[in-house]
Amino acid sequence: MAGHSNYVPQSAAAKWLESRLPVISLMRGSFVDFPTPKNLNYWWTFGGILFFVLIAQILTGIVLVMHYTPSTGAAFDSVEHIMRDVNFGWMLRYLHSNGASMFFIAVYIHIFRGLYYGSYKAPREISWILGVIIFLIMMGTAFMGYVLPWGQMSFWGATVITNLFSAIPLVGEAIVTWLWGGFAVDNPTLNRFFSLHYLLPFMIFGVVILHVWAFHTTGNNNPTGVQPKTKQDTLPFHPYYTMKDLFAIVVFMIFFSWFAFYLPNYLGHADNYIEANPLVTPAHIVPEWYFLPFYAILRAVPDKLGGVVLMFGAIAVLFILPWLDTSKVRSGAYRPLFKQFFWIFAAVCVALGYLGAMPAEGIYVTLSRIFTAYYFAHFLVILPMLGFLEKPKPLPASISESVLKGGSGKPAAAAAAPETK
Ligand code: HEM
Repeated sequence: MAGHSNYVPQSAAAKWLESRLPVISLMRGSFVDFPTPKNLNYWWTFGGILFFVLIAQILTGIVLVMHYTPSTGAAFDSVEHIMRDVNFGWMLRYLHSNGASMFFIAVYIHIFRGLYYGSYKAPREISWILGVIIFLIMMGTAFMGYVLPWGQMSFWGATVITNLFSAIPLVGEAIVTWLWGGFAVDNPTLNRFFSLHYLLPFMIFGVVILHVWAFHTTGNNNPTGVQPKTKQDTLPFHPYYTMKDLFAIVVFMIFFSWFAFYLPNYLGHADNYIEANPLVTPAHIVPEWYFLPFYAILRAVPDKLGGVVLMFGAIAVLFILPWLDTSKVRSGAYRPLFKQFFWIFAAVCVALGYLGAMPAEGIYVTLSRIFTAYYFAHFLVILPMLGFLEKPKPLPASISESVLKGGSGKPAAAAAAPETK
């Protein structure tokens, strides 16, 4: 599917280029003529939104680096210099720091869209797995980026998280020393985190290309989960989805700007405006909001190694999800039982996020344990069983039929309209 285009070069220059490097027909095949299911809803705009945020992060990051100094003696001051002295430096920094949060908001919506509509199921397993890889690299990038301003949370967050590796038997301590480049989080640690923080977004960009290539090969999923059967089931990507994505990006930019310009420190932690001090530990060391559910899982287990294994396991389980869900029906819209468990699961993830921000004591730990167990049960027990227990609703014969009947079997005015072609 990807790369097939009706493009016929007209000018002599275009013919010359096409016979040597067919980039124009590749781009047209992928982003102009590409046949896209005609029923995609707004949840499908988050891929485009993510692409926009990735580019914004790279651009603002490149300019920030022009004024940032990666050394323990100068990093904190260089960030204050950006905020106070550099023209529009405050704006660049707030766009970049809030951009990280926006990236995670968009990626969580994108992932949950995939979970609801079964986008991880065959034949889109590779798109999904590449997505999980992107998610992992994103987390590494955000974690290392947060260390760069060298505030108290930067330092102590880095210390807590890198120390987790010491739980690995025998080689744990050696790994931590190797990660730090010394015997504590210090200048070599800051420098390597800076180097990797610059590198990883370009790796994300590369994996995103593979991600797009994969679902352009299988074709997009859609809210019915039914594969397009005829030409009437699809529309060319341009202008229909270019415009829809653009509109969604503009709405998202308004939301993004609201944070960057009116609540720039709302999602951050006040302690990071205190310069890193290895001799003073903050009262509560909390990660950024987007790590909180995983932090809750980490602290739910009394044993350090067990906590680390479960925390990484919470992401690892996503890799095998395509084979854990046994249902023949792809979209949650036609799965009455799955739908209920989906919303319970979403609520459990939010609850884990809340618990990750609370002190690790009393009822908070008890609840974290229950919800951690539920998180894994959802993937390892509930999804495999649902496929056998559930009676799905009848699927529409085609995307066109579902659209004309008003979505998932609901009657609509459009149902009366005859098929046009
Ligand atoms: C930088 C991060 C990412 C970018 C730029 C990105 C981009 C895109 C785009 C443009 C699409 C097509 C439009 C859409 O479905 O929204 C897409 C589809 C998809 N994405 Fe991502 N994505 C990212 C991260 C992820 C992650 C983290 C996952 C899962 C863990 C994921 C899973 C999927 C799947 C399964 C599809 C195909 C599904 C379908 O057509 O319904 N993506 N992605």
